[in-house]
Amino acid sequence: MTDLSTKHTHAPSDNGANKTDSPKSSRLPGFYKKSLTDRVAMVAKWADLSAEEQAVLLEQGLTAGQAANMIENGIGTTELPLGVACNFFINGRDYLIPMAVEEPSVLAAVSASAKLIREGGGFTATTTDPVMIGQIQLLDIPDLEVAAATIQAHKEELMAQANQCSPSIVARGGGARDIETRPFPDTPVGPMLIVHLLYDTRDAMGANAINTAVEAIAPRVAELSRGRANLRILSNLTDRRLARAVCTIPAAALATKEMSGAQVARQIAEANAFAVVDPYRAATHNKGIMNGIDAVCLATGNDWRAIEAGAHAYAARNGHYSALTDWHVDANGDLYGEIVLPLAVGVVGGATKVHPTAKVAMKILNVQSAAELAQIMACVGLAQNLAAIKAMATVGIQHGHMRMHARQVAMAAGTPDDLVETIAEQLINEENIRVERAKEILNMVREA
Ligand code: MEV
Repeated sequence: MTDLSTKHTHAPSDNGANKTDSPKSSRLPGFYKKSLTDRVAMVAKWADLSAEEQAVLLEQGLTAGQAANMIENGIGTTELPLGVACNFFINGRDYLIPMAVEEPSVLAAVSASAKLIREGGGFTATTTDPVMIGQIQLLDIPDLEVAAATIQAHKEELMAQANQCSPSIVARGGGARDIETRPFPDTPVGPMLIVHLLYDTRDAMGANAINTAVEAIAPRVAELSRGRANLRILSNLTDRRLARAVCTIPAAALATKEMSGAQVARQIAEANAFAVVDPYRAATHNKGIMNGIDAVCLATGNDWRAIEAGAHAYAARNGHYSALTDWHVDANGDLYGEIVLPLAVGVVGGATKVHPTAKVAMKILNVQSAAELAQIMACVGLAQNLAAIKAMATVGIQHGHMRMHARQVAMAAGTPDDLVETIAEQLINEENIRVERAKEILNMVREA
């Protein structure tokens, strides 16, 4: 497998020393308090968005007409809130990260974690080559071992045939990398030989390329095996296409009013260990990670079901469903965090280039390659996870949810958009977050 420790798209950060080298800072203090139009104006300036692109955010993204051309039986669109996560400093560069999600606290939480991680120099992220796996299922084979050896002996011929399917990917340096055989002598339908085509899809997610390639080579593979081909499809367990993000947070930065930094660091490490050993906890732990990663997938028009499938299958790769992260206290007493997961995402093809909001999101993100996008997503997953386990290991998860909950209660009381923050603030101050009380405060504000 390709070495994950070496490939990243920018120079790694050197513990904060190069923080100021970044031309633009994603630190936007008070961003959350600004009006919607001010926020869009700030992001527009940051990302050089045109008036049309700003209108996509504020007025109309995907139209019903466009949507109806994207899928069969289309009857309209459904909307999700889109926000930007601030404070991300990855491989020496600042990013504003678009995220689409309905859960109120996700963006605030991930931005707060990214700010903390910034204090330790930000994230270092890497990826393997973007190698996907296409599977061919072979049955009715007289001898599995002989078939596997014959297929291996014709590897070069098969890879050349696969490469003829997507000349543009091959021209960009991608294409077939290897052929593997995996015998299953005992299955519910008898012996089976599975052939893997390993295929580098470069900046595409690659589902079409890999499916086309395995469909093209399957007849010859079946002939070589003296058996019969059944399924020919990519695998979503893309464990040759991994992203890794790491960070170190100085213990002192974790201190709260009630707890020392060392204590918080230790309790975060304990929280991670809980998810390492217990699948019941790991499912929730990894769900929190995917809160962030899915939101970036959705914002950028990537296939979040593929990413979900890959992440959870990878989490169970050792036969025991476990945490995707490692958090531990390092030799200096600081908190070290790491995530590794498959991230088969693309920056060409699919909805990234069709969906108007995804196109604007990609412009805000300003990534040059699928590898860079995968690195960002890994960082978002790590930061999202830190936010959750830090909250649970200190004040509890409900504490941070209160402001968002108060906003939703204010909205449920019929508060107009420009007064939601004011009403929510009052509900929190009164420690009385109820719709009835929100209505009373709203009336008082209107009469004043
Ligand atoms: C909620 O959407 C996500 C959390 O449950 C994640 C976790 O427990 O780690 C808070």
